[in-house]
Amino acid sequence: MLKNWTINTFLLVSFLCSATGQNEGGAPGIFNGMSFTENLQPDPNQVCGMSNPNGLVANVKVPKDYSTPGQFPWVVALFSQGKYFGAGSLIAPEVVLTAASIVVGKTDAEIVVRAGEWNTGQRSEFLPSEDRPVARVVQHREFSYLLGANNIALLFLANPFELKSHIRTICLPSQGRSFDQKRCLVTGWGKVAFNDENYSNIQKKIELPMINRAQCQDQLRNTRLGVSFDLPASLICAGGEKDAGDCLGDGGSALFCPMEADPSRYEQAGIVNWGIGCQEENVPAVYTNVEMFRDWIYEHMAQNSNSVPFAAGQLPSNYKQE
Ligand SMILES: *[C@@H]1O[C@H](CO)[C@@H](O)[C@H](O)[C@H]1NC(C)=O
Repeated sequence: MLKNWTINTFLLVSFLCSATGQNEGGAPGIFNGMSFTENLQPDPNQVCGMSNPNGLVANVKVPKDYSTPGQFPWVVALFSQGKYFGAGSLIAPEVVLTAASIVVGKTDAEIVVRAGEWNTGQRSEFLPSEDRPVARVVQHREFSYLLGANNIALLFLANPFELKSHIRTICLPSQGRSFDQKRCLVTGWGKVAFNDENYSNIQKKIELPMINRAQCQDQLRNTRLGVSFDLPASLICAGGEKDAGDCLGDGGSALFCPMEADPSRYEQAGIVNWGIGCQEENVPAVYTNVEMFRDWIYEHMAQNSNSVPFAAGQLPSNYKQE
C-alpha cells in the first residue's frame, strides 16, 4: 500500500555550501523599529502575506494554472546538489516553513533555499532570485512517515533575505483560525500530472477547496487506504476536484488562503503532505495543519532566531488596503 502513496521524498545527496558571514544581527519582528502615524501605509514588504496580484513583470502571459512572476513572494524553492526537491514558505526573513518528509535524510548544509524564483529553468534579470544556505534544520520530533502526522520542519538560514517586492513573508494563521469551506492555493514546481517525467519549471498555481476532516476521512476510506483509515489529528484536507491538485515534487509547499479583510493578502493554512495519486475527483490531498503548530513554530523560532513569525492578526489598526 505504502509504495503507492505519493508522499514526496527525494534522493539523498550531499551538497556543501559555505555560509557567508554577513553580520545582520538577525531580522526585526513585523513592526519592530517602525512607528506609524495615522495616515502612513506600512511598507508592504514588512507586512506578511502581501501578494502582487498582477505579478511584477509586465507582458508575461501565463496560463491560468501558473503563477505570474512575483505574484506570491513568500514561495521558496528548495535545492540539493543543484536539483529542485520541494518547496517551502518564508515566515520570517531567515526562516522557511516546510515539510519534514522532504528534508529527512538530508544534511542541513546540503539544502539551499531560493527565494524570488518563478522559472527554475531560467534566471530572470528583472526579478533575480536569491539563494541562501541553511544553517540549521529543525524537524518535528513526532513526525511519522507512515501517515504524515506532525509533518513539519523549519529551515533556519545562515543569512536572512532582505525583504523586497518579490521576496516577502506569508502570515501564520491566527489562533483557532479555521479554513473550512474556503478556496485556497498551492504553488510549487512539482509535476503537473502524476505520470509526467519532469517537474514543472514554471511555478504552478493550483486553486483548491478546503474539505472538512470528517468528509475527507470518508473520502480517503473509499481509496486503497481502506475503511479503517484514520486521518491523523494534525492533518487537514483540500482538493478532490478533477485535474486540480498538487502532485509529486510539491511536498513542503504552502497551502495559503486569502484573508477576508483583504483578499490580496494571504495566510498559510497548510503544508503539502501527501495524496493518493494526483488530482483525482473526490480524493482530497492532505496537508499539515499549520494552525495546530503555531506554538511549536514560535518555540523553535525563539530558540534559533532573533525574529518572531509574521502572524495574520498583527496589522496596525491604521492599515488600509490601497
Ligand atoms: C524531461 O527532461 C529531460 C532533461 O531535461 C528532457 O530531455 C526531456 O525531454 C523532458 N521530458 C519531457 C516530457 O519534457
